[in-house]
Amino acid sequence: MKNSIKAIEIKAFGGPENMQLVDKPLPVPGPGEVRVRLRAIGVNLIDTYHRTGLYPIPLPSGLGVEGAGEVEAVGDGIDLPVGARVAMTMALGAYAEAIILPAAALITLPDAVSFEQAAAILLKGMTVDYLFHDTFPLTGGETVLFHAAAGGVGLIACQWARHIGVNLVGTASTDEKCALAETHGAQICVLSGAQNLPEKLKALAPEGGFPVVYDSVGKDTYRLGLEVLAPLGTFASFGNASGAIEAVAPQDLAAHGSLNFTRPTLATYMAKPGWLQQSSAKVLQLVEDGVLSVEINQRYRLAEAQRVHEDLEARATTGCSIITP
Ligand SMILES: NC(=O)c1ccc[n+]([C@@H]2O[C@H](COP(=O)([O-])OP(=O)(O)OC[C@H]3O[C@@H](n4cnc5c(N)ncnc54)[C@H](OP(=O)(O)O)[C@@H]3O)[C@@H](O)[C@H]2O)c1
Repeated sequence: MKNSIKAIEIKAFGGPENMQLVDKPLPVPGPGEVRVRLRAIGVNLIDTYHRTGLYPIPLPSGLGVEGAGEVEAVGDGIDLPVGARVAMTMALGAYAEAIILPAAALITLPDAVSFEQAAAILLKGMTVDYLFHDTFPLTGGETVLFHAAAGGVGLIACQWARHIGVNLVGTASTDEKCALAETHGAQICVLSGAQNLPEKLKALAPEGGFPVVYDSVGKDTYRLGLEVLAPLGTFASFGNASGAIEAVAPQDLAAHGSLNFTRPTLATYMAKPGWLQQSSAKVLQLVEDGVLSVEINQRYRLAEAQRVHEDLEARATTGCSIITP
């Protein structure tokens, strides 16, 4: 075994050009830790927030938070077998050939789910799980608005909504993306640049407006969401693809009908005892059952990591993207 690994590192916040492929010593697991040889690395828009410093991280730092692979070495007190198939999410430094993690952070993979499928879907799938079943619990029959419906999280949300009998009205930036969202279960998808977008969406909403808007676009869609929500509706803000919402004024929430505004994060849910294992098992079961198909529409090598970020930020991707170490 080589005593070094390749990994992506940033020394300063900035553009994709700051991402460098470097050689690092092969990390050794300490007590309670495991070294995983990564076979597939998941790509998430949050990786770009870490790179730019929108979500600050201590520097220098690795990037990437998700992957799947095989246990290669274990520290004291861990009896996981070498070769066990595992996955991880919210594990900073996953753009690498291998990573060290606490054993408790690992998700065991069923044989029926490939490394690529797991790396592509777990973080995004668990996000849809909490959005639909915790943040604003859906019971079936609701009509909801979901922005960026053809993205990684978006295509999973379309399929999950269809599965639980929810009418998902999506938005996306091109006709092709809208068609993809509809194929995956959106009731209808509207162009985000359409003229009179608020009126178009209001016409698709139930009487009075949507009970919930799931918004990961942020700055560009915040005011729109307020306009199309029903009184007492919930604005679930879970991302910043267009930039962070600058300010939420209580008076605005009052004026649009006693609205609720919430800003949930996956990390908060993962910190709840038992939640990670329960939610990941649910997502993997939906994959095994064929309810969720994993759309890996872009593949890159580790040395091409800069291009992954350029494509994501240029809105040139659909579904999930994967890096192969
Ligand atoms: N809070 C959480 O727990 C959590 C967890 C996971 C993900 N997220 C958020 O969920 C969202 C989706 O994540 P993802 O990894 O699956 O990414 P993604 O949806 O595959 O990519 C982002 C999409 O956002 C849309 N977008 C709108 N305005 C944009 C802009 N100015 N620049 C770039 N993209 C823009 C684009 O779709 P169109 O071209 O169709 O507009 C783009 O494809 C992200 O905002 C992410 O931060 C949040």
